[in-house]
Amino acid sequence: MPSKLSRRQFLTTSAVVGASPTLIVPQGVKPVVISDVSGIRFKNGGPVSSIEKAFELMTRGTRVIDSVVAGVQIPENDPEETGIGYGGLPNAEGVVQLDACCMDGPTKRAGGVAAIEGVRTPSVVAKAVMENTDHHLLVGEGAQKFARLMGVPIEADLNTEKSRSLWLEWKRRIDPSHYLDPEKRAEEGYRAGLSMVADGLIAEDHFWGTTNCSAVNDKGEIAGVTTTSGLSFKIPGRTGDSPILGAGLYVDGDVGAAGSTGRGEANLYGLCSFFIVEKLREGLHPKDAGMEALKRVQANTVEKRLLNDRGLPAFNLRFFALNKKGEYAGVAMYASGEAVYGVCTDNGAEERPLEPLLEGGP
Ligand code: GLY
Repeated sequence: MPSKLSRRQFLTTSAVVGASPTLIVPQGVKPVVISDVSGIRFKNGGPVSSIEKAFELMTRGTRVIDSVVAGVQIPENDPEETGIGYGGLPNAEGVVQLDACCMDGPTKRAGGVAAIEGVRTPSVVAKAVMENTDHHLLVGEGAQKFARLMGVPIEADLNTEKSRSLWLEWKRRIDPSHYLDPEKRAEEGYRAGLSMVADGLIAEDHFWGTTNCSAVNDKGEIAGVTTTSGLSFKIPGRTGDSPILGAGLYVDGDVGAAGSTGRGEANLYGLCSFFIVEKLREGLHPKDAGMEALKRVQANTVEKRLLNDRGLPAFNLRFFALNKKGEYAGVAMYASGEAVYGVCTDNGAEERPLEPLLEGGP
């Protein structure tokens, strides 16, 4: 085998031309899996991250959708990852409510769940919705009942010691002498959460939660998944962008995939994952497509409470995009906090810097 050819390239190319390694015609897409930082840093005590798991499965021939959903179950199950799945930061009443969505390019199908309780891995239920129903989105109790019918274990409480103690700290900050009026209470609750981020108790990306993972295999087949515990200490029932097609995730099997983490409300107004995939369709590179979405979000952010003292968005939002050719990018409103994303290729998993739209932090 020529020394510059990887084993995978050899297998791919020699399969095309028969057994002879002398007639090598490189073909196919270079497989890649991308994710936000959770997909590379959280391993639930095991040897591999979510992008490594997805890459390994995918390159051994597992369907891309099955590979990425298997991958994100690692951070979903990791009690140290307080923005996703088991041990995700709970809502204002101390209950962990999770959202997820997945989309499969080749079959053009998608599934999602929102505000589901008692299930560590909402991505699995989202895939079951996609595969076993004619619907896209199941929410709340109905989603949990469906999960039970699908054989997914239901637990009484998904809090860990860590998520419960952070919720208690949040309660202490907002409710020293019981509640203010509901509007003020919601504002105070948000502010108290942000003060815990500022005090270093909660990582900024865990405050909004979420992992997104998308992949393309050597046949150009694309799929993606997004899963989250959503905004920390949210009003019960609040659902963000993650389970909403076109917002937290969008895949077009002929074009590419995009997904997000960060302030879901800001993304929902622009349905940015759909917007990014449309920009990919026009031929933009994933980085440029992501930047266009961030600019759109910035332009739509006009409420004073959402602007910082520089008149810029007072929140972060990140997009991860790849196209059918296997080109990819991670972009962010600000490259602050966890300012990297994960990429897994034949060369293994590595962290890459996010490309920011704006200088500094929110
Ligand atoms: N992006 C996660 C959320 O806002 O729920």
